[in-house]
Amino acid sequence: MERTFVSQEELTRQMAIADRLKNELAPRGLLYYVETFGCQMNVRDSETIRGILDRIGYRESPDKEHADFILFNTCCVREHAEKRLMGNIGSLRDLKDEKPSLIIAVCGCMMQQKDAAKKLLRRFSHVSLVFGPNVIFRLPEMLASVLAGNRIEVTSEESFAIAEGLPQLRDNPRSAFVNITYGCNNYCTYCIVPYVRGPERSRDMEDILHEIESLTASGVTEITLLGQNVNSYGKDLAEKSFADLLYEANKIPGLKRLRFMTSHPKDLTDDVIRAIAENDHVCHHVHLPVQSGSNAILRRMNRKYTREEYLNVIRKLREAVPNIEFTTDIIVGFPGETEEQFNETLSLVDQVGFAAAFTFAYSPRAGTPAAKMSDQIPEAVKKRRLSELNALQAKKTVENNTKYIGFEDELLVEGLDDRSDDTILHGKFQNFKMVYFPGSKDLLNRYVRVKVLSLKNNSLIGEQVNE
Ligand code: 5AD
Ligand code: SF4
Repeated sequence: MERTFVSQEELTRQMAIADRLKNELAPRGLLYYVETFGCQMNVRDSETIRGILDRIGYRESPDKEHADFILFNTCCVREHAEKRLMGNIGSLRDLKDEKPSLIIAVCGCMMQQKDAAKKLLRRFSHVSLVFGPNVIFRLPEMLASVLAGNRIEVTSEESFAIAEGLPQLRDNPRSAFVNITYGCNNYCTYCIVPYVRGPERSRDMEDILHEIESLTASGVTEITLLGQNVNSYGKDLAEKSFADLLYEANKIPGLKRLRFMTSHPKDLTDDVIRAIAENDHVCHHVHLPVQSGSNAILRRMNRKYTREEYLNVIRKLREAVPNIEFTTDIIVGFPGETEEQFNETLSLVDQVGFAAAFTFAYSPRAGTPAAKMSDQIPEAVKKRRLSELNALQAKKTVENNTKYIGFEDELLVEGLDDRSDDTILHGKFQNFKMVYFPGSKDLLNRYVRVKVLSLKNNSLIGEQVNE
């Protein structure tokens, strides 16, 4: 599909509406509350939404109760998210009754599913705005219409145009997400993403590099490049690849850590492996979803690689990049998965030794091929396989952690341990391993050297050491 961009005129028009609204609204001291479900893509989208709301004159509310605008940014990758969302929206009815001027909005992937937006407006009379992830740039116009008393839904049928240069508001001063592709072309048979986020589109490399430059100029030192399949970045551009992007981004002044997710095993080519090995800021961590250890299941999932090819990519990365760590996603109970095929997933997990695994029971998504497969696995079986897999991974995590006792490296301090009355900090080494250590709050968002001393409840515990 041809890439298209939202025109400069359209973006200027939207921002002019935002500025006009700001004149009206800013004196009223209005507050917004945004709640985000799902993946990093949604987190990044919420930053754009918050940037636009800020431009319109809304400020952030500490809670829903004080907000004048509440928005849920939804996910539809698995089913239970849907039930949770409906509960969340339902519980806002009283708040809306008390404060009729309250605007409740719902956006994100779930709203892009067939008829979901219309159904939601019909079911919840207190919701007045629903929109999909591809039309966020139209928020000023949509909000103006809602403020004029309308209830509207805006989803994209065909337009998957890329919008550049939108405002963003982030919480973290050191770490930022940068989109490199939107959408997905892979059509894994279990996955709803290609249907709701549209076909894969790469941003222009200059736009990406420019965004990273302005982030590092403002003090950001850690960048995570985002895409459903980052390794296929540039397939729709002339002569640009993901590896090229890593080499270029690595040169940007002020950048210390360059991360990326998610990688697809079929597209993680030798030039990407070389780019990880050769660029000093590219972190030694790859999130590489395997989904299953069985070739028969991988084929039915349309993953386009075999177990052997997956293990080969892992082997090559380990040879090229010492200290590299892997995380993964795994689905158990895919339709037709036999006990033997599930055991192949266990044996792969045992063999690779992932630092961590995000494990899921297969959840049928309407409109995807796997949902129509006849041999669905009973929930009880999925649950049992999931807990077997989690028990194995817990053991592997301990094994992986044990290697780190005595290890010392630079750590980016990311947060405070809630249970510790502000005396224990946590952060990550460049290869994504997380460590807890005693220290004071003023180290937050700074880089310190930490040595790992012990393991406690499957976490690494360390202490700060001098340079
Ligand atoms: N059921 C269960 N897990 C799923 N995922 C995607 N679709 C489904 C589904 N229908 C998981 C995959 C993917 C991660 C983001 O979510 O493991 O990598
Ligand atoms: Fe879904 Fe597969 Fe695309 Fe990932 S690569 S978003 S699992 S279709």
